[in-house]
Amino acid sequence: MEIFIILLLIILSFSLAIFFGPPYLPIFNNRLAQIIELGQLKPGDRLIDLGCGDGRLLRYAAKRGIQVIGYEINPILFFICWLTTRRYSQNVTLIFGNFWQKDFVEAEVVYVFLLPRLMTKLAKKLDDYSYKPVKLISFSFIIPNRKIIKKMNNLFLYLF
Ligand SMILES: C[S@@+](CC[C@H](N)C(=O)[O-])C[C@H]1O[C@@H](n2cnc3c(N)ncnc32)[C@H](O)[C@@H]1O
Repeated sequence: MEIFIILLLIILSFSLAIFFGPPYLPIFNNRLAQIIELGQLKPGDRLIDLGCGDGRLLRYAAKRGIQVIGYEINPILFFICWLTTRRYSQNVTLIFGNFWQKDFVEAEVVYVFLLPRLMTKLAKKLDDYSYKPVKLISFSFIIPNRKIIKKMNNLFLYLF
């Protein structure tokens, strides 16, 4: 019975994201350095990961002195992020919940791995972002009718 409840909770946690954004699918580790390079991020800069998954980008960047802010809606992934970023806690801020309903904190770079249908909605939110200029790096998906500033394989850089 307990196993059944635990399984149900895991399934619910991972299904939750589908109503608000993309399901969990992590970026390959060998692309993390390119995100830092594309964003020209230096120690002390701030990087947001909208839907930070298991926190792999947060760990990679925080280890290099970058201030990272991760938003995550899946409670299990949020817990994994918290657990695995604890040693870099002075560089890491984790925000639990639906990022569409939150004000984004100040950052130089926002990174996303979303879904094609959400890219225009994200662009609207970033057009209203108070702390401009901000760079957006999107993995895999482009914003329709918006100029790509730079591209590294399927990582796209935009300026807002
Ligand atoms: C495709 S994964 C990307 C994970 C990570 N950013 C990466 O590139 O490895 C998308 C993540 O966003 C989370 N997510 C989806 N919609 C969200 C929302 N509205 N608010 C917060 N997190 C969300 C999912 O739970 C999932 O972990």
